[in-house]
Order: sequence, then C-alpha cells, then structure tokens
Amino acid sequence: MDLFDIRKDYHQGHLKPEDLNTSPLFHIKEWIHDAEKAQCMEHTSVVLSTASLSGAPSSRVVLLKKIDDEGLYIFTNYNSRKGQQLEVNNKAALLFFWPELERQINIEGKVEKCSEALSEEYFNQRPLESRVSAAVSAQSSPVTSREEMEKNWKRAKERADKGGITRPVYWGGYLLKPHRVEFWQGGANRFHDRVLFTLEKDEWHKERLMP
Ligand SMILES: Cc1cc2nc3c(=O)[nH]c(=O)nc-3n(C[C@H](O)[C@H](O)[C@H](O)COP(=O)(O)O)c2cc1C
Repeated sequence: MDLFDIRKDYHQGHLKPEDLNTSPLFHIKEWIHDAEKAQCMEHTSVVLSTASLSGAPSSRVVLLKKIDDEGLYIFTNYNSRKGQQLEVNNKAALLFFWPELERQINIEGKVEKCSEALSEEYFNQRPLESRVSAAVSAQSSPVTSREEMEKNWKRAKERADKGGITRPVYWGGYLLKPHRVEFWQGGANRFHDRVLFTLEKDEWHKERLMP
C-alpha cells in the first residue's frame, strides 16, 4: 500500500464568509442537519480532545446529544480519563468530520458539567440496557476479562428489572462553550475554504483563513 498514491479531490462547492451570517452555533446545527440529509454515518459523532494539566492531549469519539445557544453537550462518565482531564483542565476541542460532504468543523472552548436536571433527563430517556451499561462501567479502568464485565452487567440488570435504576453520580453531561469555531469545506486542488469565528467581548468575529 502506497499512501502517497491515495488522492481524492474535493468538488462539492465553495464556502464564503457571507454564507455564514448568524452565530456559529446556528451554522453548526445547520451542517449537522445537512449531514443527516446526506445520510452520513453517525452524523452526530464528534472527536473530543482534552488535555492533562501538563498539556498532553488525548482524543476520542463521543456523540453530540444537544446543542443550544450556550454550546454543545456530550454525556459520559465523569471518572473516565477524559473526565479526569476535564476536572483539572477545562479547555477542550470538538471536531466534526463528514467525509461525504467534504466538511469539517473545529470547535474550541471551555467545558463545564451541565445541570443535574439535564443529565437526569437524558439518562432516564436511554434504554434500560444502556443505563445498566453506564452504571456498571468504571469507564477507562482496566478489567480482567469480558466475562467479568458480563457477570457484573447481568447482576445489575436483574437488580434494575426489579427496582429500576438511578443515574450514578459519576455519569452525566458536559457543556462545551465555544470561543473559536472554524468551518472547513474541501476545495479542488487542495485549495480549501475556511471560515473562522472568534468570540471577542461577547461578539463573534468572522474571517477567511488560507487553506
Ligand atoms: C461512534 C462512537 C460513539 C461514542 N460515543 C460515546 C459517548 O457518547 N460517550 C462516551 O463516554 N463514550 C463514547 N464512545 C467511546 C469513546 O470513544 C471512548 O472510548 C470512551 O469515552 C473512553 O474514553 P476515555 O478513556 O478517553 O475517557 C463512543 C465511541 C464511538 C466510536
């Protein structure tokens, strides 16, 4: 396999700063909607990057579960590796990539835990089996075997069948409040379009970036 030979040109159109006329959060929603219409696989999946206190970065895919005027919401285990990093360093980034649309969005901002009420609402809306999985997984901790995990899951499921299941305190949502958002549209000959929004004194400023 010669990776040098792999080359796909991008032709789906141009992105002009004038196309993005309102808040970046509005246009993020719009692009997610476009990705849904284009039937992009897992179109709400997004790469979340966090960093340790010393600045060492780490990334993983999560699912976007809500977006409003405040920012973007994801749900996870607060004790996970990402949770531990966010506890000491609340600067984070989200990255959407929709290859079918030749588009990406880079989002940077600060993260805080969302309201207990929202975590509660989303947890209770999930299927029982998913709630059990969230409750019995000490996410990011080592485990001896799959069998061990299955045994714990079955026991917890039996308890949940009888008495229901409440949201563990270590599971909930994070809200990322963006201060930098960049929309990227692939262009022919690697001459891409990039539009950057930066938040300055509560106002969004917009500019074109070179590819
Ligand atoms: C498509 C996809 C969706 C995922 N969604 C979530 C999610 O919403 N929340 C979550 O905690 N992990 C999700 N994961 C798993 C994470 O990528 C990751 O393995 C996990 O959160 C542990 O990460 P950490 O050890 O860096 O904290 C998803 C993975 C994939 C591939």
